[in-house]
Amino acid sequence: MKIAVVGTGYVGLVSGACFADVGIDVTCVDIDKKKIEKLKNGIMPIYEPGLEEIVIRNYKSGRLHFSTDLGEAIQGAEVAFIAVGTPPGQDGSADLKYVLAVADEIGRKMTDYLVVATKSTVPVTTGEKVRAAIQSALDKRGSNLPFAVASNPEFLKEGAAVEDFLRPDRIVIGIDDDRAEQIMQRLYKPFQLSGDRIIYMDIPSAEMTKYAANAMLATKISFMNDIANLCERVGADANMVRKGIGSDPRIGNKFIYPGVGYGGSCFPKDVKAIIKTAKEYRYELKVLQAVEEVNNAQKFVLADKVKAHFGETLRGMTFAMWGLSFKPNTDDMREAPAAVIIDELRAAGAQVKAYDPVAMEEAKAHYIFDKVTYCKDAYEALVDADALLLVTEWSEFRIPSWDVVGKLLKNKVVFDGRNIYDKKYLESMGFTHYGIGSK
Ligand code: UDX
Repeated sequence: MKIAVVGTGYVGLVSGACFADVGIDVTCVDIDKKKIEKLKNGIMPIYEPGLEEIVIRNYKSGRLHFSTDLGEAIQGAEVAFIAVGTPPGQDGSADLKYVLAVADEIGRKMTDYLVVATKSTVPVTTGEKVRAAIQSALDKRGSNLPFAVASNPEFLKEGAAVEDFLRPDRIVIGIDDDRAEQIMQRLYKPFQLSGDRIIYMDIPSAEMTKYAANAMLATKISFMNDIANLCERVGADANMVRKGIGSDPRIGNKFIYPGVGYGGSCFPKDVKAIIKTAKEYRYELKVLQAVEEVNNAQKFVLADKVKAHFGETLRGMTFAMWGLSFKPNTDDMREAPAAVIIDELRAAGAQVKAYDPVAMEEAKAHYIFDKVTYCKDAYEALVDADALLLVTEWSEFRIPSWDVVGKLLKNKVVFDGRNIYDKKYLESMGFTHYGIGSK
């Protein structure tokens, strides 16, 4: 079986490599020549555990190909996945120009029946727009080639993308064509999912499922951050409350960790986009508007605690920051709370010394440039720093040598943005510990 995957971002590259790994002949296509050349040489555009290995292995075995030529890639392919970016436009809605440009090119270049499946997160009704773009390109050629569109949203998490793809909780496929459904069935067969974990539905429902899933997860986080902020005020401990409510299986113990707010490429963008879609249909998603509002405010909470401890003016002070990426095991800095915290500290006159195991190159190149001093390891960041801020819960920060931390810091104060440290233990070591959601 042969397929093409257009777009070699997180979703496209991971999907392409994983499909190849189960024996499918995959061509990954991108317009970025440099990126394609690098991939051919085994250089990954992103950091993702396990990805490099799987890409190199399948490229060498000849099952995974990289190309800038979409026309060639879809020759003989049964499915073409669209996995290009849908960046938020100025008004928060997902910008479909890349998706529709690919659809148009597919229409211009396809030579046989093809299933065109969208993996990018796209607003409801995009399936119809993709269909129209392909049909109009075919019409211009005077061609009546048959084709089908499908929506096959991707639920993988950064940092665990390969694992999530190879062992998914479920696969959602929006489809309205029997022949296409059979092809998709064959494609996903190697993943050996029991029948009810592949969920077929109509295309708009599949498109909506992706937004509803991310919006629900974002809601859990904002809800918990809101409760955590109240816990601090009334003298309760959000960590205990989390355990207390999470043991109810109807609530569940996942995604209820209070912190410095959610970031990344999906939650902020998708929450904005679904609010926007609702507005277009004259409906107000009040819960999600609040979810967004709470999250925006949550990114300021850690810097506010620093100011509450040291005073509004932090002039002449230096803070050590552990972690920059929006979450561990990724170099992704998109919408990272670290960027907001750094701006806040700097605006109050402080300097920041930062260390992140993998995201520093990304931070330097695209996001916070020279706003911080980048350090070669976690301890170097502490030298001459007034206090430590833990922003991303990378494993290597979990059990530091507190003796060394205490000696290097000017003040034994820790602002723990992810509640990974044991307050009582730190206090017994002479530290002042500020978590999220407790006094
Ligand atoms: C998310 C979805 O999980 C995934 O299914 C979808 O395909 C894309 O969006 P991702 O953005 O990679 O994946 O990260 P995720 O692990 O979900 O974390 C998102 C953010 O929420 C991070 O900033 C994380 O720190 C934060 N978070 C998560 C919390 O603050 N508390 C929690 O309890 C869980």
